[in-house]
Amino acid sequence: MRVMALALALTGPALAQDGRVVFENHCASCHAVERGAEAGPGPNLAGVVGRRIGGDRAFGYSPALEQAGRNWDRALLLRFLADPEEVFPGTWMGANNLPEAADRAAVADFLQSVR
Ligand code: HEC
Repeated sequence: MRVMALALALTGPALAQDGRVVFENHCASCHAVERGAEAGPGPNLAGVVGRRIGGDRAFGYSPALEQAGRNWDRALLLRFLADPEEVFPGTWMGANNLPEAADRAAVADFLQSVR
């Protein structure tokens, strides 16, 4: 029994924090991460951390992102994923946020890894 509980304790949080899994579940319906893949309902996110906000040339952004005039960094991305509308009022990301801080951190790690 003790071994079972330990196994559950280890795999539970590990799974929840696997950024790729979180991305597949919450983001992939709108966003591609393979470089060169066509934009879907949302822009391609390959290399997004460090990239200009609104920087996928194949995607038509809202004025909110189009006119942001700066680059994504990890801190801004974490805030955006918590509440897109608060960071960029009028964004078309809408309510597609991640309420759990651990999920946001995991997805940020994942997005930093896709170049
Ligand atoms: C229902 C579709 C949808 C889902 C689900 C969604 N997004 Fe988005 N996302 C968008 C749209 C549309 C935009 C463009 C927003 C704009 O132009 O204001 C966007 C923009 C972004 C941007 C800015 C990209 C850039 O080039 O500046 C990031 C980063 C982002 N989304 C991350 C995510 C992550 C991470 C998730 C999963 C937690 C997610 N999105 C879920 C539709 C979605």
